[in-house]
Amino acid sequence: MDDFIRDLPKAELHLHIEGTLEPELMFAIAKRNRVPLRFGSVDEVRRAYQFSNLQDFLDIYYEGAKVLLVERDFYDLTWAYLERAHADGVRHAEIFFDPQTHTDRGVAFETVGTGIHRALADAEHKLRMSSELILCFLRHLSADAADATLTQALPFKDWIVAVGLDSSEVGHPPRDFRAVFDRARAAGFLSVAHAGEEGPPEYVWEALDLLKALRIDHGVRSIEDPKLIERLLAHHVPLTVCPLSNVKLRVFDTMADHNLRRLMELGLCVTINSDDPAYFGGYVAENYRAARDALGLTREEIIHLARNSFLASFLNPMDKRARLEDVDRFVADHAGER
Ligand code: ADE
Ligand code: ZN
Repeated sequence: MDDFIRDLPKAELHLHIEGTLEPELMFAIAKRNRVPLRFGSVDEVRRAYQFSNLQDFLDIYYEGAKVLLVERDFYDLTWAYLERAHADGVRHAEIFFDPQTHTDRGVAFETVGTGIHRALADAEHKLRMSSELILCFLRHLSADAADATLTQALPFKDWIVAVGLDSSEVGHPPRDFRAVFDRARAAGFLSVAHAGEEGPPEYVWEALDLLKALRIDHGVRSIEDPKLIERLLAHHVPLTVCPLSNVKLRVFDTMADHNLRRLMELGLCVTINSDDPAYFGGYVAENYRAARDALGLTREEIIHLARNSFLASFLNPMDKRARLEDVDRFVADHAGER
């Protein structure tokens, strides 16, 4: 079953590229860029990855990203993720990047975008993996700063499918970013948003009503509001759930407490993703395994989750159908195995 989960064709829809920076690569890039790190070793970095909430994690995540300076760094980071994801059966990835984390340090938007884009183009050819890029605005910064970032992104519009909203959730409601999302959608971007991770169901309503989010990233707190569940169901809004992240950031005390299965039972289109795998102890297949082990997911439910990952993606209908057929073929080829 573990090999089955690993090799099952799947899409990953909630993945921050900066969250794939493994300590080994962090050290290697820091060395070549002569950036000082406050950690003495890879082990020391890993030992520091104990978080009591989202902010705790974000502090260390933004610090790690400081080693990324030139195009090659963004290429190497992205390529390392793509190879790792490929080994986990990922056939299509929709990847978040946080340009403000870099532009605020003097790294040009173009440097970030080009490095990531080149790796995605290589994955298309060398790994037969398709991908999309989603620009996230940092919600702890101002709406004006988000607006300036959108302006910087416009020359690279063809590389970016959607805008998103991430970083510190509580106290930074989606309504603050309504105007910049309006502008982004007018420019042709789709929209998604992190909501209902630590923040209340009200933030999920705002992401839907004001930002016109087509997917909700996390969204696990939606379960507190039955009317919101009805809305998500009626409008077929998928949730990109990240089980290991939610336990690491103490959204749930243990994996057995996670509501992923309850969300599925309500009929929602739930997907499993890794969020920031270098920090949370597992890539996407490990997230499927951990959820299966703690929640007793059946083989059929695992297959359903993999199908959802393609259904919830921004692939065009033809490619979506082809990827779903890949899943069906894989399942048929492995029928009878347990
Ligand atoms: N940035 C990276 N990971 C995040 C998460 N889980 N929530 C909000 N912002 C993030
Ligand atoms: Zn996230």
